[in-house]
Amino acid sequence: MKIDGEAYRSIWLAEDAQTVEIIDQTRLPHRFEVAVLRSLDDVARAIRDMLVRGAPLIGAAAAYGMALAMREDNTDAGVERAHAVLTATRPTAVNLCWALDDMCARLWSQPADARVDLAYARAADICNQDVAINSAIGDHGLEVIRAVYEARGGSGPVNILTHCNAGWLATVDWGTALAPIYKAHDLGIPVHVWVDETRPRNQGAALTAWELGCHGVSHAVVADNAGGHMMQHGLVDLCITGTDRTAASGDVANKIGTYLKALAARDNNVPFYVGLPSPTIDWTITNGVRDIPIEERGPEEVTHIAGKDSNDEVVTVQLTPDGSAVANYAFDITPARLVTGLITERGVCAASREGLAGLFPERVGTV
Ligand code: MRU
Repeated sequence: MKIDGEAYRSIWLAEDAQTVEIIDQTRLPHRFEVAVLRSLDDVARAIRDMLVRGAPLIGAAAAYGMALAMREDNTDAGVERAHAVLTATRPTAVNLCWALDDMCARLWSQPADARVDLAYARAADICNQDVAINSAIGDHGLEVIRAVYEARGGSGPVNILTHCNAGWLATVDWGTALAPIYKAHDLGIPVHVWVDETRPRNQGAALTAWELGCHGVSHAVVADNAGGHMMQHGLVDLCITGTDRTAASGDVANKIGTYLKALAARDNNVPFYVGLPSPTIDWTITNGVRDIPIEERGPEEVTHIAGKDSNDEVVTVQLTPDGSAVANYAFDITPARLVTGLITERGVCAASREGLAGLFPERVGTV
C-alpha cells in the first residue's frame, strides 16, 4: 500500500539483500521510522516488543529471522536454536509456528552450506504468498460488502466496524479484514469504518486509523465500549475482524475485546465476518476456548499510555494509581456460533469444520 504516494510493504530486504527492514509499528502514528534487523535476536526482540505484529507479519518476520540465524550458525543446532528462540516470542498467532515449521522442514533437508540461500528464498516466498492470499481475501470480502451495499439499495456508505489492526501493517501487504475494505473503496463502493481504539495497545487508534487515513478511506475512531450502542442504533452494517488463530471448528482467537463485539453483533443481527489466510487455521484444535493459548503481556501496557503532547513530542504517561494490580490478556476467543462467515483466500465459508473442510479438503485428515 502507499504512504505519501510511495509503495511500501511492512517488511523488506535492504539493498545488501541480507539485512531485514521493517516499519517500526511502536512509533506509529506520530513517527514513521524504519527499523533494521541484522540478527536472530533483533527479529525475536522486534516480534516480542511488537515493532512487528499481526499474525501474518509475525510469520513473515520469523521466516526472515530464520534466514538471519542461518548466517550466524547454519548447523543443525543453529536451526534448532533459532526455531526455539522465535517460537518463544509470542504464543497465540499460529502463523508463527506455521512459518517456523515450514522453514525448518526445508532447512533440515539441505546441507548446511545451502541453508542461507534457501532460507532467504523461502522467506521471500512466504511474503509474496501472503500478499497474494490477502489480495484474494480482499476479492472475496469485497462481494460481502457489495451485497450489503446492494441490499441497502445503494444508498449511503456501508458502515463497517473493525477491531484491532488487521490491515496491511498486520500482514506483508493488503491486510485481511481491511483488504475487502480497500478493494471496495478503490472500486467506488462507499465505505465508512468504525475503528475500535483497541486498548490496551491501541492498534485501532494508532495503526488502523493511520492506514485508512493514508489510503483516503472514511473512518472514525470509537472507544472500545461504543460498538454495542452503535449496533443498537443501526450505525453498523457489518463487522469484519482478523484472527490470530482459527480452530478447525471455526472458533477464532483475535485481539482482546473481539468476543464482546461478536456478542453485541449477534444481539443486534449485525453480520460478523472474520478475514483469515489459511496459515492462520490450526487444524489440530477443535475447541478454541479450551485449547488456543492466550498471551498475557506485561502490566505497563495497561498502566501507561503513549501519545503526542502539545509540543509534538511523543510522551508516555501513567493512567492507573501507583500500586494498582493489573491483568493484561491480549486475546480472546469468539466461538464459531457467533461468526457469520470466514473470508479466506478460497472464498467465504461457514465458521465450522464442514465449512473450512469444504474450502481446504486437502487438509482434512492431515493432522
Ligand atoms: O497483538 P497484535 O497486535 O499482534 O494482534 C493482532 C490482531 O489481533 C489481529 O487482528 C490479527 O493478528 C489478525 S492480523 C491480519
